[in-house]
Amino acid sequence: MTRPEHAGAILTIDLGAVAANWRLLRGRLGGAECGAVVKADAYGLGLESVAEALWRAGCRTYFVALADEGAELRAVLPEADIFILHGVAAGEEPDLMGKRLIPVLNTLEEIERWAGFARARGGAPLAAAIMIDTGMSRLGLEPEEGRALAARPDALDGIALTCVMSHLVSAEERGNPLTARQLADFHALRAGFPPARASICNSAAAFLGPEYALDLARPGAAIFGLAPIAGEANPMAPVVALSARILQVRQIDSPRTVGYGATHRAIAPSRIATVSVGYADGYLRSLSSRASGVLAGHRVRLVGRVSMDLITFDVTGVPERFARAGAQIELIGPGHTVDDLAAEAGTIGYEILTALGPRYHRTYIPAPREGEG
Ligand SMILES: Cc1ncc(COP(=O)(O)O)c(C=O)c1O
Repeated sequence: MTRPEHAGAILTIDLGAVAANWRLLRGRLGGAECGAVVKADAYGLGLESVAEALWRAGCRTYFVALADEGAELRAVLPEADIFILHGVAAGEEPDLMGKRLIPVLNTLEEIERWAGFARARGGAPLAAAIMIDTGMSRLGLEPEEGRALAARPDALDGIALTCVMSHLVSAEERGNPLTARQLADFHALRAGFPPARASICNSAAAFLGPEYALDLARPGAAIFGLAPIAGEANPMAPVVALSARILQVRQIDSPRTVGYGATHRAIAPSRIATVSVGYADGYLRSLSSRASGVLAGHRVRLVGRVSMDLITFDVTGVPERFARAGAQIELIGPGHTVDDLAAEAGTIGYEILTALGPRYHRTYIPAPREGEG
């Protein structure tokens, strides 16, 4: 096993920050329950570690995309409520029931199938949620299907409808009228299913106003430190730090090119540090000639193309005692956040996090125990 100082790069995940962020979100919801979206391996940060930290912080309700993710989570959290956003595939019903996973039913056919399965097996009704589309046009019942379903409650016989959900399209853009319109439409639709809890609040909506909290919130990104509202100061604690090792520093005295495609040409005398990270680690190729990092407090610019395992930084402005083989360049950290890196890559923080690769040496900072601060 590689020692951390020999790893190509070290990814540090602060579980205390995960717990603090979840508590901050919970504090913004009035009396509503705060769940957590932990699909895609908890946004790339490790399902098991993250889920344990959230459970200790008090989170009891979790959302994942796939039944397999739900099964993995069930093994970690035997008592949690676990919702499967992609619903239940035909034939998968016994697996979900066996693991007490709650499907989010997205079509009338799925509702009929889950209800039929529940009735055929007898016993207590089976829990489910339904998703109603109010503008995303991805998953969920059409509004008219939702209204028709509300008009014939027998269609839900066999189902314990625990939650009615919808998903916001542009909540991170404060003032976008689509968000308020979705909330109004959702209110009208969920009124057809009175006892079920209502859920529409993602990370961003927790910062739009108390009217979005409803009964159960489903934040993901903000728990993992991403800025909830575009263009505004980020109130969340940073969760992820990534630093990568310099393998070699090259002095360039006469003009020559650096990297594949010869896209960077060093003209003036310069020093180039070659660093042990590449697109195979999820350090996106679109960061070529665009990213920056921090070396001993100095901002350094990535030059040339990102290749599979290597990137190159111009470290000409950094004293040689810092810019040397074995030193670490901060790729993500206090001086350069996930959102900063995402902006350089022309993408969103979600993609940066979920792309974090398996070759990084992962270190988890444990959350302080209750009462330890
Ligand atoms: C249905 C659903 N609800 C909630 C979330 C969480 O959104 P966010 O990570 O923006 O808080 C997601 C994430 O993609 C989602 O697909």
